[in-house]
Order: sequence, then structure tokens, then C-alpha cells
Amino acid sequence: MSNYKIHIDPNNVPRHIAIIMDGNGRWAKQKGEMRTFGHASGVEAVREALTGASELGVKHLTLYAFSTENWNRPKEEVDALMNLLVQTIVAEIDELNQNGVRLKAIGDIENLPDGCQEALEKGFEATKNNDRIELILALSYSSRWEIEQAVKTIAQEFHDKKISLDEINQDLISSNLSTNGIPDPELLIRTSGETRISNFLLWQLAYTELHFTPVLWPDFKAEHLYKAILDYQGRERRFGMVSEQITDN
Ligand code: FPP
Repeated sequence: MSNYKIHIDPNNVPRHIAIIMDGNGRWAKQKGEMRTFGHASGVEAVREALTGASELGVKHLTLYAFSTENWNRPKEEVDALMNLLVQTIVAEIDELNQNGVRLKAIGDIENLPDGCQEALEKGFEATKNNDRIELILALSYSSRWEIEQAVKTIAQEFHDKKISLDEINQDLISSNLSTNGIPDPELLIRTSGETRISNFLLWQLAYTELHFTPVLWPDFKAEHLYKAILDYQGRERRFGMVSEQITDN
């Protein structure tokens, strides 16, 4: 693989990168292994992405680790994923701390098994003063779930006369999503060749550049991240304006 890193413009690195980690099951099947082996092997790719992002100065890395829809998978696979999550967090807390990583999570965390919630709480607490990069795990997350929660909260506040109709705007909606306080991603990466958003950060991805790679998640290396960032840097982000307006500013 060529050396992509040296071509990256350090002044135009995305602040926030989101990744749909896909293809663990197919990767395992190709090797004649169980799907859960694919997930366990995916942890190494998480390390690659996190280290690579951190070294380039990315401030937020959001990983789609478990969707609301993933609850419908066979119980053994769900249990294995939850165990893997707990084990990984517990095993990695020291290293996260040494590398200035702050752990966060978005999603319906209260729906996760108790052991998983406890491991997460420990991880949040132990890393809360770190500020080099935020690792945000999307767990039991779906965007439509999150938007539904936000609508309910805002409707209740309106009903209770805490806010007026005029105060319902895009900022208020953003601040009621689980990503409150986190800037929208500039770059989304999805692995395994699928070209869907799959209910991930629908509101937040409004102007995000999308990068799809055929690489299966366990094979994802820092080089693939660099390649995605270079692809991003080659795009012209117009936000609905014309090209001249962007270059004049
Ligand atoms: C998608 O592959 C992957 C997942 C649903 C789980 C991702 C989880 C990890 C990489 C494990 C560790 C994570 C952390 C943050 C510690 P898939 O099962 O949908 O693959 P397929 O599409 O080939 O079946």
C-alpha cells in the first residue's frame, strides 16, 4: 500500500470522523470461522483507526458498534458482542488514558446489559479529563430512535410552556440529540462495500462527505483511514453555495 499519510494536509484534517464498521461476519466466513471471531478481530481495527486519527489531530471519532436493529441478531451473537465490548473497555482503560482518549457513548445505553453499562461508566469516569481525542461508541443507537427522543423532549417542554414555538429551531433539535456538544462529522467512512447510511447520524450527516471502501472491517488499517482523509481533502465542500463563493472566502 502506498504511503498516503505524507500527502495529508495537516491544516485540513476533519475534526470529527464517523465510521460504520462493517464486514466482520463476511471476513470471518471467508476464513471459515464463526462470526464472533470476526467481531473479536475487529477490535484491532478499532485500535488502528483510533491511533491513526489521534496522531493526525482528529478530535472526535464515532464508531457504530451496535445498532438498535442489531438486537435482532441471534442471542449468542448479541451476547458475544456485549461481552467483547465489556472485555475490551476493561482491558483498554489504561491505554486509553495513556493516550489522552476520552471515552463517550451515544445511544439507548440504558437498554444495554448491566455489566456493559457498568464497564462504560467506569470507562467514562476514568477518562473524563482526557482531551486529545474523544472515542464515541454508538451503542444500541439508531438515528430515528434518537430523533424520536428529541421530538418527545421538545414536545414536553412546549406542553409545559418552558419553550415557545419560536424557540424550536435547528440548534434546539441538535442539542436534544445524543451528540449534543459534539460537532457534526466532516467525514463518514463505511467499510465492506455497502453504500448505505443504515440509520446512523441522519441529522448530523447533512453536509458530511461520504467515503465507501470495500475493505472488510477487521482488515481496516491506519492506511485506509489516511486514504479516506485524502479523498475528503480532494472534495470541494460547498454547503449548497457555488464554487466561487467558497474560494472567495
Ligand atoms: C459489523 O459487521 C460490525 C458490528 C455489528 C460490530 C462491530 C464491533 C466491533 C468491531 C467490536 C469491538 C468494538 C469496540 C468499540 C470495542 P457485521 O457483523 O455486520 O458483518 P457482516 O455485514 O459481514 O455480517
